[in-house]
Amino acid sequence: MRLDKAVALAGLSRSEARKAIQGGRVLVDGAPVRDPAMQVEPGRVRLDGGGVIEAGELILMVNKPAGVLTATEDRRFETVLDLLPEPMRRRGLGPVGRLDKDVTGLVLLTTDGQLAHRLIAPKWKAEKVYRARCQGRLTGADAEAFAAGLTLSDFTALPARLDILEAGEAESLADVTLTEGKFHQVKRMFAAVGHPLLALERTRIGCVTLDPALKAGEWRRLTEDEAEGLRKLCGMDR
Ligand code: URA
Repeated sequence: MRLDKAVALAGLSRSEARKAIQGGRVLVDGAPVRDPAMQVEPGRVRLDGGGVIEAGELILMVNKPAGVLTATEDRRFETVLDLLPEPMRRRGLGPVGRLDKDVTGLVLLTTDGQLAHRLIAPKWKAEKVYRARCQGRLTGADAEAFAAGLTLSDFTALPARLDILEAGEAESLADVTLTEGKFHQVKRMFAAVGHPLLALERTRIGCVTLDPALKAGEWRRLTEDEAEGLRKLCGMDR
């Protein structure tokens, strides 16, 4: 591809990339090149002494803190994109589904629109797992109601699994596994069985588990295995 296009993959606009090239900030195989039209593989290009530029689709995981929006930009609130360094923000990443502002945990961001679409479409059955703390004592009857498919005011939820981890008089802790993601779905399901939520964290999407080493607000790229696992799940493996 053209050198200016390869440099733009680092998160620059085409005109910024051309300026960087003409300013001698771009090395190809270690030597400065000032011709934006040169044909080159991105893996041979370095900008400002950084690592080689990667082509291809990106998939990141973010540990979303409470108060941050699952959006690409917002005038009032911080978004998950704001948690990334500047060049990464300009790679065309978008979130895979949404978490409410007060909900924490795993958000995937990707440049791959087809993958994002398939991970949220019920057809591909990618599981989403949430750790939920709720009011009151959860019982087997609640798990049965989730498994039967709860009827809410405007739709009937697909069968969901409720694994009760702690059941106390005042509050309980459980993992809930869904293969769909309607607006406020988990909150509404817990409210429907009489156990309003106190806190909700997403811990897994398909084969990708929130990395316990990531503190709230931190992110990392998916490993090759994680990315391959997601693609396989969505019928996109080569
Ligand atoms: N269910 C909810 O109620 N909220 C979320 O953010 C995700 C699932």
